[in-house]
Amino acid sequence: MKIILRKQVIDILKILRDKKDKIIASDLANDLNLDYVVLMSAINDLISYELGGFKEEEINQISLNKEGINYLKSGLPERQLLGVLIQQDKKEIQLEEFIKLSKMEKTLFYIGLSNLKQNKWIAQSKASGESKIFLIAEEFPKTEIEQFLSIFNEKQVLNYSELSPDELSHIDTLNKRKIINKTQRTQRIIYITEKGKKLDLNEIEELKQVSKISSEMLSTGSWKDVELKPFDVSKPGPLLKAGKIHPIINLINEIREVFLSMGFTEIRGPIVESAFFNFDALYQPQDHPARELHDTFYLSNPKIAKLPDKERVLAVKDMHENGGNSGSTGWRYEWDEDIAKKTLLRTHTTATTIRKLAQYYLENDKKPIKVFSVDRVFRNEKVDKSHLAEFTQIEGIVIDDNLNLCDLIGLLSEFYRKLGFKKIITRPGFFPYTEPSMEVSVYYDKLGEWLEMGGSGIFRPEVTYPFGVEEPTRVLAWGQGLERIAMLYYERKDIRDFYINPIKWLRQQSYHK
Ligand code: PHE
Repeated sequence: MKIILRKQVIDILKILRDKKDKIIASDLANDLNLDYVVLMSAINDLISYELGGFKEEEINQISLNKEGINYLKSGLPERQLLGVLIQQDKKEIQLEEFIKLSKMEKTLFYIGLSNLKQNKWIAQSKASGESKIFLIAEEFPKTEIEQFLSIFNEKQVLNYSELSPDELSHIDTLNKRKIINKTQRTQRIIYITEKGKKLDLNEIEELKQVSKISSEMLSTGSWKDVELKPFDVSKPGPLLKAGKIHPIINLINEIREVFLSMGFTEIRGPIVESAFFNFDALYQPQDHPARELHDTFYLSNPKIAKLPDKERVLAVKDMHENGGNSGSTGWRYEWDEDIAKKTLLRTHTTATTIRKLAQYYLENDKKPIKVFSVDRVFRNEKVDKSHLAEFTQIEGIVIDDNLNLCDLIGLLSEFYRKLGFKKIITRPGFFPYTEPSMEVSVYYDKLGEWLEMGGSGIFRPEVTYPFGVEEPTRVLAWGQGLERIAMLYYERKDIRDFYINPIKWLRQQSYHK
């Protein structure tokens, strides 16, 4: 095999051939003033021709900790204490006074004191009642441990494996005095193979490929003689981290388009709703369990909502109490206006469509009315991977004469077909405001499963009559979950991802769906 190497790699090979001792990668990179990564990439080139290689080796290193570095500068505590005695020119001193003069922290003082005794530089006696210290030596040469410590003046780290048994025992002492750090790391040792050593350098061909043509190459015409480095088009390009539309908003926009294409108009309603529109106008009795605190976020500020005109409120009250003019018997209880005035975060966007119904009555628009909303709702639910306390509903109503369930099924089928779900199934359901009511499920090919999407139905006369919508005019209504669809679209198993926003995943999303 012909050996073709970059110039830099050839240079490094030459250096390796001359080196006698063990070559540590990081040292070599330092010596050559090369980036470590650049060096290792050169070694990799050598590896591919079996000219060199590297192996990894664990090394245990020892360095002084902060306290140790302090001692290196100002002496071990015993040396510092000795200094105090010499400076004071005292051969004997009361223990208490010594402590005071030393200005040392007590534990440190006693460490120093016990080492002074061990060095046989002082003696301590209690003969006269109080503890007294006597200086008993004449000379105070550097102790072995002090001599060893001074190694750290020259080298900041010592390699465990290079220490002699004597040195190791000193390390042991320093370790007991808690002034050293032990660290472990991996280092790479570079070697050159027999083939690398014996290779005739003339056998190597220098790689002349270039990846860039400079202006100089153009003007001198030398570009004609160089070999261009081929592009590797299979390599991924750098990730663009530009801002983009959030997946949920992307989906909402798509749903908007589907409704618009079906002749619907978008409506929006307030997030802070009255119980009146969220519940009462939908013929939900005031003791309905869904109104309970565990489901609904009631608000204390603002505390009271404004109700629509008196006539409308009375019509709703009548409906709850006795069925008004709808032919129903009503719920048969005393309706309380104060409960209807409570404020809350809407629990469904049916509050928004019923507002439209009220407005339709006021403005008496031309039928058919086809409106939709895709908006946020709130429920006091425990959040887990398939539940959120705030989520998005896809809601809509159609107001027209003689509408029936087939119209509703047809409409929902068309809506889901446009979103890519070919089959839907409806089953009987229950909502206080629709009769009949249907649960809607779609078939998801990829999983081979039916998935529940939400509710639908025809508004009961008890809902529509107070707003003047009477037979043969009827209202088709539906409310479906959006995040459900999003989980399928974006293949997320955890519904929270849409709101926690894992940045890595968001970055992988395309700019337009
Ligand atoms: N509001 C219902 C829900 O939140 C859905 C629904 C809307 C059902 C309209 C029937 C008609 O689950």
